[in-house]
Amino acid sequence: MGNCWGVKIKAVCPSHSVPNSGTNSRSGRESGSSSRVSSSSSSVPPTPRSEGEILQSSNLKSFTFNELKSATRNFRPDSVLGEGGFGSVFKGWLDETTLTPTKPGTGIIIAVKRLNHEGYQGHKEWLAEVNYLGQFYHPNLVKLFGYCLEDSHRLLVYEFMPRGSLENHLFRRGSYFQPLSWNFRMKVALGAAKGLAFLHNAETKVIYRDFKTSNILLDSNYSAKLSDFGLAKDGPTGDKSHVSTRVMGTYGYAAPEYLATGHLTAKSDVYSFGVVLLEMLSGRRAVDKNRPNGEHNLVDWARPYLANKRKIFRVLDTRLEGQYSQVGAQKAAVLALQCLSTEARFRPTMDEVVKTLGQLQDTRDAARNPQPDQKTSVQSYSCNGHKSRREVQKMLGM
Ligand SMILES: Nc1ncnc2c1ncn2[C@@H]1O[C@H](COP(=O)(O)OP(=O)(O)O)[C@@H](O)[C@H]1O
Ligand SMILES: [Mg+2]
Repeated sequence: MGNCWGVKIKAVCPSHSVPNSGTNSRSGRESGSSSRVSSSSSSVPPTPRSEGEILQSSNLKSFTFNELKSATRNFRPDSVLGEGGFGSVFKGWLDETTLTPTKPGTGIIIAVKRLNHEGYQGHKEWLAEVNYLGQFYHPNLVKLFGYCLEDSHRLLVYEFMPRGSLENHLFRRGSYFQPLSWNFRMKVALGAAKGLAFLHNAETKVIYRDFKTSNILLDSNYSAKLSDFGLAKDGPTGDKSHVSTRVMGTYGYAAPEYLATGHLTAKSDVYSFGVVLLEMLSGRRAVDKNRPNGEHNLVDWARPYLANKRKIFRVLDTRLEGQYSQVGAQKAAVLALQCLSTEARFRPTMDEVVKTLGQLQDTRDAARNPQPDQKTSVQSYSCNGHKSRREVQKMLGM
């Protein structure tokens, strides 16, 4: 690929510095903790433990390798939808009712992820996805139809997400990918936050652990769904404050305390959410060595600006000028800054993030469809909007 982003953190001993592996593969997933998971919805069964239990209990279809070969027309290279550390993802077609392969253009479209490399780590990630996506149903989590486990083949069959990943929309240049508007960015942020909040609110928390733009997929209406549960992990139970794991994830997104100690909490996901929100606000990648010295790491570069209300606008994507209200932009920037707090306890919960982002959408909707008795107006500002600081503080409730 030749770029310098998306470098995976491989398993390293906590409290040692993380080596820059320069590879996009993941390895060394932890063995499951002893805790059991059930979702906040009472109809969801507790997380099964053994592989047999996971595969038996899920409502997923077990596909044969030949079925998926035929559904994807022999994994045609021109039908690749994307690639990640696990393998390539191909477009395919199934009959809607029987879920058997059909001709391209008929039935439902699916996305088939195929593990490229053999080995225990790949199998564990595959099983983690079957485990979590097989039992959770939520509008902001991608739907898994089934899997294939045959000889050394490990595949996953998902609903097709027509607008692909958030990463492509934010960072790919070209006529197909127009810059995502402010409103769509905020909609995506809210949807993804709801997905994380759902996982964190499960009876026993689930920590997603790999929250980043390439794992957020978009449907035709730009509703966000979390995908790629390969690194998801049961959260701490009882009076435990964290789970101890080997450090896994992606450079630029992992929380500092997790990198330093291997202690994983839901607040690690909140930090990663802050990084993604900042990427959405700025249109810049979390890590990009093509930027000038001192700007390689987005969080380090942006933090001083986010902390200063008058300088927040230096961080905002210039392609968004004129699309946001000054108040909305500042609220979003303050939220990102809170999520990026170095100390985990100062970060908001994902429920609080959902609430704040929900209020931002409400303000926007109110501005678009003012009620007859509504006196406040929210205007659109560019980076150089002229509201006085005092007025802004008042609107922000400071
Ligand atoms: N259901 C889907 N619909 C459309 N594109 C998808 C789908 N699933 C994955 N992709 C594409 O493939 C890429 C890699 O998928 P992902 O599940 O993150 O794999 P990995 O586990 O290898 O990181 C995504 O970033 C996206 O571009
Ligand atoms: Mg991925």
